[in-house]
Amino acid sequence: LPHKQFKLLGKGIHFYRVLSSTNSIARQMAKSGAAEGAIVMSRSQSAGRGRMQRQWFCPPGKGLLLSMLLRPQINVQFIPQLTLLTAVVVAETIKIVTGCASGIKWPNDILINDKKVCGILAESSFSKDKVEYVIIGLGINVNLAAKHLPPDCKETSTSLSLELGHNVSRIKLLKQFIISWDEHFQGFVKAGHPYLRSKWIGNNVTLGKNVTVTKGKDSSHGVAEDLSENGGLVVRLSDGSLEEYLAEDVSLRKS
Ligand code: BTN
Repeated sequence: LPHKQFKLLGKGIHFYRVLSSTNSIARQMAKSGAAEGAIVMSRSQSAGRGRMQRQWFCPPGKGLLLSMLLRPQINVQFIPQLTLLTAVVVAETIKIVTGCASGIKWPNDILINDKKVCGILAESSFSKDKVEYVIIGLGINVNLAAKHLPPDCKETSTSLSLELGHNVSRIKLLKQFIISWDEHFQGFVKAGHPYLRSKWIGNNVTLGKNVTVTKGKDSSHGVAEDLSENGGLVVRLSDGSLEEYLAEDVSLRKS
């Protein structure tokens, strides 16, 4: 890979055949002082993790499983913006490498034809309001065949190869991801939330839709209207009021 071409990400890429979770290893590296921009990749994970304490499953060599280590000098409340930015970058990467259009389902799922092709998991450490590190992990289903999808995911998940009818190079995806990420991260650093919001809105499939948001035992119905500064989803509830939902608190269903 052309390391010199990369600005922040990808200066140090650590490839593994198998490990527990790229997020966990990136976190260990962060704790022992690794530089910002490091990437941890693996052909397979024995304990891949998803959001909401779920597992992330992917057969060896079939997905792009990576985590990046960031040390952004931002207020803690803005960390979700970095994961939203990553979703924008994944959608762009898929478009450039495969020509395939995808959409972001709030907050961070990338869908093709309404099925999930990529998930993003951010984990961070901070004291008071100062961010020590942020690990952003992503799992793209690249060359999974239908038989590789867990039975309970067959209806809801897909892979690039299933959608395209041919395999896709994981290295091409990695290289384009790094290039696109560097570009959009710079845009975000210069122009902040308005930059992110416009890019995210341009790629999303959630706004304008009827949604059910579930917070603990409470479910509410409404229409997704906007993306907030905190990376939250702004929903117009059935009683006409506007409510902001943060990703860590809610799960979202179409209704
Ligand atoms: C989700 O949709 O719930 C998020 C899934 C994130 C999966 C990726 S795979 C690489 C990185 N390491 C992990 O353990 N999880 C993320």
